[in-house]
Amino acid sequence: MSSEKKPAWQALQSHFEEIKDEHMRDMFEQDTNRFGHFSLTLNDILFDYSKNRISPKTMDLLLDLARECDVQSWRDRMFDGEAINHTEHRAVLHSALRNRSGKQMFADGENVMPEIRHELERITRLANDIRNRTWRGATNQPITDVVNLGIGGSHLGPMMATEALHPYAIHDLKIHYVNNIDENHINNTLETLNPDTTLFIVASKSFTTQDTMMNAETARSWLLHKIGDSKLLELHMIAVTSNARAAVEFGINEDNIFKMWDWVGGRYSMWSAIGLPIVISIGPENFELLLQGAFEADQHFRNAPLDENIPVIMALLGIWYNNFFNAESIAILPYDQNMHRFPAYLQQADMESNGKAVDRDGKHVNYSTGPILFGEIGIASQHAFYQLLHQGTKLVPADMLAPISNFACIANHHRALMSNVFAQTEALMKGKNQDEVIAELKAEGKDDKEIEFLLPYKLFPGNKPTNTFLFYTLDPKTLGSLIALYEHKIFVQGIIWNLNSFDQWGVELGKKMATDILDELNEGAQVSSHDSSTNGLINYYLKLRTLNPKA
Ligand code: F6P
Repeated sequence: MSSEKKPAWQALQSHFEEIKDEHMRDMFEQDTNRFGHFSLTLNDILFDYSKNRISPKTMDLLLDLARECDVQSWRDRMFDGEAINHTEHRAVLHSALRNRSGKQMFADGENVMPEIRHELERITRLANDIRNRTWRGATNQPITDVVNLGIGGSHLGPMMATEALHPYAIHDLKIHYVNNIDENHINNTLETLNPDTTLFIVASKSFTTQDTMMNAETARSWLLHKIGDSKLLELHMIAVTSNARAAVEFGINEDNIFKMWDWVGGRYSMWSAIGLPIVISIGPENFELLLQGAFEADQHFRNAPLDENIPVIMALLGIWYNNFFNAESIAILPYDQNMHRFPAYLQQADMESNGKAVDRDGKHVNYSTGPILFGEIGIASQHAFYQLLHQGTKLVPADMLAPISNFACIANHHRALMSNVFAQTEALMKGKNQDEVIAELKAEGKDDKEIEFLLPYKLFPGNKPTNTFLFYTLDPKTLGSLIALYEHKIFVQGIIWNLNSFDQWGVELGKKMATDILDELNEGAQVSSHDSSTNGLINYYLKLRTLNPKA
C-alpha cells in the first residue's frame, strides 16, 4: 500500500489540521517538562526535539506510521544482509564495516567479517608505515603529503571527517583532497607539492568515474615527469576500489589496491578503505573509535524501542514537516568550525538516497520525498541566511549541533558560541510578539508614530522548529555516532516513503550526455543536433575558445 494511504498517514492528516496553528510558546507553557518528555540521549549525545510542532499525540501517530510501514522488519532485513537495494540486487551492509560485536554478518550467504577485518588490518599497516615514516618515496624520502583523488562518496566522507577531527591529526603530514575535473583544483594542489614526498590515493569504487580518472592521469604524469621510472610509481600511487582489474591496468601495484564491496554504497563508504585518509590523518586507534561510535549508534538503532530511538524520531519529525507542513528543505547548522563540511556530506547522503520519485514498486509517488538539504556553520549563517529562517515565508526545520567543550576551549569564545546556540533555538521557537515589540520600542524612546511604522518589521512569528544535538566534545567516537544516526534517519525515511535509498540512477543521464558532448567538443565542428539553447551554448563556446590555443 502506498504510504499516504496508510491509516496512520490519514490520521496524521486530520491531526495536522488540529495542531497546525498551535504555537510552541503555548506548548511549552502548558507542559513545563516538555524538554523531559521530548529529549533522548545516546552516550553523551543529547538529542533535544522538544522545540518541534508536536504534541504527544503527534508522536504517537508518527510512531504508528513507522510501525505500519514495517520500519523494524526493514531494519532487520538490512542488518541481515538481504538484497534490499533491489534495483541493483545488492545488500546494504555499511554497518558491517563498523561491526565491533565479534558476530558474523552476511551478504549473499557469505560472512563478510573476515574480509573486512583483513582490509582494516591492511589499511592500518599502511597508515602506520606512512605515519611513522617507514613508507619511503622513489628518492627514499618520507611522505609529507597525501592527496585523495575521488569524488562524491569517495571524497566527502574522508574530507568531512579529517576536517572534523583536525585536533587529532598528525602534524607533519598534510592531507589534500581533489575532486573537481576543473584543472584549477589539481593544479592549485600540485603547485604546493613535491613529487618525491607525495602519495596519491585514487579513490573510486567503480574506477571509471571521469573526474577521478582524469585527475589520476594528471597526477601520474606529474609524478612520472619527476621520478621517471614507471616502476617507482607504486611508491606514490595507491588505490581504493571494487574494480581491482581497472586499477591494475591503470598501473597500480596489486599489493597497493584496497578493497571495496558491492554492498557498500559510495555515500556510505567512509567506514571502509575509502576512509584511508582519515586513518592516515588521525591514526588507526582513533579510526577504530570512529567505527566504535558508529557501531554504538547501530546498536541503538537496532535495539531501542521506536519511541526512544533517535534516528527513528529524527526521521519521523522530518516526515511531519515534509509531508504535512509541506516544508521543502532542512538546514544542518553545526556550531563547531571543524564540522564545516558536515552539511555537504549529509547533502549527498540524504539527497542522493531519497531524492527519488519512483517507489519500490516502480510506481510514481504522489507525495513529497527527500528534502532539499542545505547548511553551513551556524555562526556564519546567522549573519547570512538566518533572516529567512526567522522572518521569511518558508518553514525551514533546522538541526543545530554543538560541542560542550572543544580541544582549544577558550572560555570566552566557547561560552559566546554556546550562548548563540541556545539563543537561536529559543528565538526561532518563541519569536517576538506585538506586546514585546511595542514594549521594546517604547523602552528605546520611540514615539507612537514610529512604533506603529516599525512594528510589522520587528515582529518575529516564531514557531520555527529545531532539533538540538549537544555532545561533550567532537571526538572520533562522537562523530562516528552522529554520522550513523543520520544514516539511519535517511534509511527510515526511505522506508516510509517506500523508496530504495541505495541506488542513484538519477546521476546517469547527465554523465552519459557529457561523454557524447565531449566527443563533439573534441571534434570542434559547429553543432546543430541539440535543442537551440544547447546548440547556442556549445557553438558560442567553440567560437570563443579559439581565443586561447590551449583551450
Ligand atoms: O555519480 C554519483 C556517484 O556514483 C556517487 O554515488 C559516488 O559516490 C560517486 O559518483 C563516485 O563514484 P566512484 O567512487 O565510483 O568514483
